[in-house]
Amino acid sequence: MGRQIDRQESRYLYRQVADLIREMRDTGTLRPGDRIPSLRKLAERLKISIPTIKQAYEELERIGLLEARPKSGYYLTSSANKSSSPRKPRMAASAVPVSRQELIEQVHNAVHTPGAVPLGISNPVGALPNDRALARWTRRVMASAREHAIGYGPFAGFEPLRRQLVLRYLDMGLNTTPEQLVITNGAQEALAISLQLLAKPGDIIAVESPCYFGILELIESLGMLAYEIPLCADTGLSLNDVANAIDKHPIKACVFSSSITNPMGARLDEDSKQDLVSLLENRGIGLIEDDVYGDLYFDSQRGKPAQCYSQKGLVITCSSFSKTAAPGHRVGWLLSPEYAGAAARLKRALSCSSALLNQWVLAEYLVSGEYDRYLRQLRQVLFTNKERMRACIAGNFGDNVRFTNPAGGAVLWLELPKKTDGSQLFHQALDAGVSLMPGTLFAPSDRYRHCVRLSYGLPWTDKVEEALLRLGKIVASEPC
Ligand SMILES: Cc1ncc(COP(=O)(O)O)c(C=O)c1O
Repeated sequence: MGRQIDRQESRYLYRQVADLIREMRDTGTLRPGDRIPSLRKLAERLKISIPTIKQAYEELERIGLLEARPKSGYYLTSSANKSSSPRKPRMAASAVPVSRQELIEQVHNAVHTPGAVPLGISNPVGALPNDRALARWTRRVMASAREHAIGYGPFAGFEPLRRQLVLRYLDMGLNTTPEQLVITNGAQEALAISLQLLAKPGDIIAVESPCYFGILELIESLGMLAYEIPLCADTGLSLNDVANAIDKHPIKACVFSSSITNPMGARLDEDSKQDLVSLLENRGIGLIEDDVYGDLYFDSQRGKPAQCYSQKGLVITCSSFSKTAAPGHRVGWLLSPEYAGAAARLKRALSCSSALLNQWVLAEYLVSGEYDRYLRQLRQVLFTNKERMRACIAGNFGDNVRFTNPAGGAVLWLELPKKTDGSQLFHQALDAGVSLMPGTLFAPSDRYRHCVRLSYGLPWTDKVEEALLRLGKIVASEPC
């Protein structure tokens, strides 16, 4: 244990200790069943107090990573460690038209089945609902702004909200201005506008594989073609794969989530992100960065937006408050020094402007500092949920299941035995009172038929664990 604790860091000391133990487990320094250093020994070695170490160990025990054995000490458990990541898929041979709309519609309807434990929808805010705070800010805004709050807002968005976003980007190392930001109806509208600015029907768009099905739905409705670039669950996109793809295919634009991907929760390291941006910009290819999960990281630091590395203005960043504050407010944005003007015109033509009251409430929520405090708690809750869900899957889904250990976000991606049909499993699970997302939705090809996505964006209760146990029984009984 050569590493020391950094007292200047914003992370709590006990979190740093917990992360250290987790890192030792991930690198294999500590193995399942190993006895970990005693409280006193570690406190001496790291020069911090015994209660802080105890707090870290108790947190790890609560999420099932450590177990305390009476009169013996703390041991690394084996359950969550047993897992392995899903395999990286093979490169696609060609770009293809997308045809997923019908299936998405069917699944969407079923996923909202009343009474089913909702493991299908990714709604991180559901893990720690903040409706009371938002209701309070709504009342305050209505009381002070009155009829102004329900009028038409400016086309490109409410100026105070855009200024708050500028300040947040400054914290991430990106200098921007309110004029470079356009407020949209969620990230989905930002993505739709970006695609229309960079490409036309028939053009090829490179997407991560697996990727968020909403992107596929957009590509389909805009009459474009999708080319899948396989993701590695642990390291994200491979630059070699991207280079090969742009050498061989006339790719017009890429839609990537370089910070945290959906559904794999993969994260690209900063050097690779920078190389990716220059690779694409040198070839004149636009990068639409889908950063909706960027703020929900589990590491000590947020990944920078790829926009930070842009030299030629070919990166458009799309994001929203849907995963961090209020999906129903439909407040997102698009950031681009190069395309903001054209984007604002298209936004005006498409939907005039976004709901002013919702923007106003979010602006006040941000200014008050309450949003950031909430975000810190939300990340903690999501992290704990993730560990619990992983431990539950490792212990109950059989030995032939591989699953991710996401770097952030609110979903796990599971690769089930090859013979499993994810869509059939989806119906069986619904009959058992559990909703999930079948893997087929996450690519234009059929390569993820045997995969499913599960969300841990909900309050962790006995009901959730029981639902996972029921699902585990179904999965474990599948033929291999
Ligand atoms: C990766 C990703 N991008 C974009 C969106 C759309 O976000 P919004 O609800 O802000 O339109 C989602 C929503 O699930 C998502 O998961």
